[in-house]
Amino acid sequence: MKIKFWILMSTIFAFLLIAFFQCRKPDSSVKPFGQVNGQEVYLYTLENENGVRLEITNYGGTIVRWLVPDREGNLGDITLGFNTIEDYVDKSPYFGCLIGRYGNRIAHGKFVLNEKTYTLAANNEPGGIPCHLHGGIKGFDKRIWDAKFIDGEAGKGLKLHYVSKDGEEGYPGNLDVTVTYQLTNENKLIIDYNATTDQPTPVNLTNHAYFNLKGEGNGNILDHELTIFADYMTPVDEGLIPTGEILPVAGTPLDFTEPHEIGERINMDHEQLKFGLGYDHNWVLNNQAGELIMAATVIDSTTGRFMEVFTTEPGIQFYSGNFLDGNLIGKSGKSYPIRSGFCLETQHYPDSPNHPHFPSTILNPGEVYQTRTVYQFSVK
Ligand code: BGC
Repeated sequence: MKIKFWILMSTIFAFLLIAFFQCRKPDSSVKPFGQVNGQEVYLYTLENENGVRLEITNYGGTIVRWLVPDREGNLGDITLGFNTIEDYVDKSPYFGCLIGRYGNRIAHGKFVLNEKTYTLAANNEPGGIPCHLHGGIKGFDKRIWDAKFIDGEAGKGLKLHYVSKDGEEGYPGNLDVTVTYQLTNENKLIIDYNATTDQPTPVNLTNHAYFNLKGEGNGNILDHELTIFADYMTPVDEGLIPTGEILPVAGTPLDFTEPHEIGERINMDHEQLKFGLGYDHNWVLNNQAGELIMAATVIDSTTGRFMEVFTTEPGIQFYSGNFLDGNLIGKSGKSYPIRSGFCLETQHYPDSPNHPHFPSTILNPGEVYQTRTVYQFSVK
């Protein structure tokens, strides 16, 4: 009787002891990542059962690290970025961040909506012609978002929330934005973008991850093979603003309907490549129905890493990292030379508020902005 009593007591004691230490154990999936203007920001880790790991900071909702296996199972960080928050604040060319209120360019930073002209910051000047880029001087990439982990229907997730005030960066209306990242055990990152507004406003949200499937810092991406499921694109002028035309890609170096190495035709004598200094264009995806379908694939045959991009969006900006110039030093201490990363930014077309025949980017009160993009990794 006595022995039984003591066995019971010691079992209870052991449980209490374990529970005590469990509670005290710091949550290793959230770490401080420094301060921005005196406010703490954090690094949140999502990891799946294959060891795929994402580290995301609530400063700009930025993907800081993204570890995926190669064909030997070795994990490599396939996104460009920095080790410190200071570098992100001081010099990031939009590495890994969320972009808003409007992804890509708006000509001269001006648009007319319901007979009123809105003037936005002209924070970019390709070819010496000023325009508005990626939401302005302090876009969503430079804002601190509220963040919390969620158990999503597809996997563990991070939910980010930000309210962009009426008049912020010149845009009308209070815009309530939620972006959710979910990492699945099929090595998919699902990004859901949601927004509502109290006044009509343009909205075009995306993520600006720069990928190098060899691993960041491991040279350029010119031998990566890219396919884009798009028969048309929106050509630009010398200021990288869409002319309004929608042109077939067939017979041009912008035709990626069959796989091509990114570097194969990048230096060809073609006006669009001259204006973009390489690829920096919006492709009109064959999917215009708003369903989630495949938009692009990329393979790096040295590591075998294979990336598939799915989206509900009608467009994708393929940017071949032409403005990287070797001056930025990345996470592994190596510099990022020209074309050492590429972006596949799912989106509505640039400058849509000034082109009424492009799919509309205007969100009205009572409507819900809802788009999904999925990046999936496997090996070949
Ligand atoms: C644009 C580029 C720009 C880059 C900024 C891309 O989305 O298309 O023209 O230079 O973002 O890093």
